[in-house]
Amino acid sequence: MYFALEPKCRRKDLFDFENELKRLEDGVKFGRIILITAPRRFGKTSLLKTFLNECSLPFIFIDARRVIASEGIVNMRGFMIEFTNALNDFLNRYRGVIGKFINSIKGLDGVEVTASFIRLSWKKKNRANIALILDNLNKWASENNLKVILAFDELQEFRVLPINFPSLLAYIYDNLLNIVVILTGSQVGLLYDLLKVDNPKSPLYGRVLYEVKLRRLSNEEAITFLREGFRQLSYKVNENLIVEAVNKLDGILGWLTFFGWSVAYGGETSLDRILEHAARQAIEELKSFLKKSRAENRYRIILRTIAVKPSTWSIIKKSLEAEEGIEIDDKNFTNLLNNLLKLNFIEKQNNLYVIGDPVLRHGILLYL
Ligand SMILES: Nc1ncnc2c1ncn2[C@@H]1O[C@H](COP(=O)(O)OP(=O)(O)O)[C@@H](O)[C@H]1O
Ligand SMILES: [Mg+2]
Repeated sequence: MYFALEPKCRRKDLFDFENELKRLEDGVKFGRIILITAPRRFGKTSLLKTFLNECSLPFIFIDARRVIASEGIVNMRGFMIEFTNALNDFLNRYRGVIGKFINSIKGLDGVEVTASFIRLSWKKKNRANIALILDNLNKWASENNLKVILAFDELQEFRVLPINFPSLLAYIYDNLLNIVVILTGSQVGLLYDLLKVDNPKSPLYGRVLYEVKLRRLSNEEAITFLREGFRQLSYKVNENLIVEAVNKLDGILGWLTFFGWSVAYGGETSLDRILEHAARQAIEELKSFLKKSRAENRYRIILRTIAVKPSTWSIIKKSLEAEEGIEIDDKNFTNLLNNLLKLNFIEKQNNLYVIGDPVLRHGILLYL
């Protein structure tokens, strides 16, 4: 069913990602580190989960959003619990064949192995060493002539941890040839900042990253998606509503799914109310970022200015200065804009800054 809200994990529920699945397959065959990038709700997790479920390679799936959901924030404890759970899921799936790997990590510091599960310690003085565990995993995979996929969903969320991801990933890239890494990121700028591939001083410098960029659906594709989704549920819907929804929601799969779900399961027929609901969701993420920032008020003014109308650097700066009644340093101002770009809340199209997600734009105008 296209209109189920959770990320999809089966090909038959996944609309139109054949090319992307093929690209991932090639990436895993020929590449070492693969990135799936796109703004929120474009279908990254759905693509990744479907691929992992269908590719028949062993995988370890680590989800940053799950850490945030259970801990409230990203911290080392949450990360190690997630890593432990992901490792145990993986072991459960391959229980019959993986005894040798389990034996090989038994003696490591911070690793406790029982008959039914593995526990990793996260405490500083006795923290399990992830690189060593991966060493052993690689050895097992190589003896069995297999590749193992190590996947991090929304890796940039882990940037606050005391783990040197560029080093860890470079180590895997260069030495653990039977492990392939797949990373996703909504905040593409932050993801690249974390990886630092362009920095000659970074361990990952010069390594090839294989990027799969997800795109928006065209209007036609979006209409087909909605029609098909309603057809799967044998739900009769006015064609005008579909066209109008696509005009308002663009080709963003997450919003189209939310719309279809609201109509078919929620019995909601007012597009305005659905939009309002969606806009509230979109704005919550933005608000939680703003709450943590010292420049909250400035970001608010910048975002509102851009939401009213796509604007140039100098127009946005002028309206910020007019609101604050003081002159603002060019460099500080550019930093603020760049932060919003890196977080993918805004996009730059030629000379204009725009809010790329029409639902977020609606939310900013209504609620920010
Ligand atoms: N290709 C697709 N076919 C059907 N539904 C999709 C597709 N891509 C995304 N969705 C739906 O859109 C929403 C957002 O998808 P998700 O994979 O979580 O996106 P992301 O990880 O990029 O934020 C979910 O409800 C998901 O079920
Ligand atoms: Mg996701």
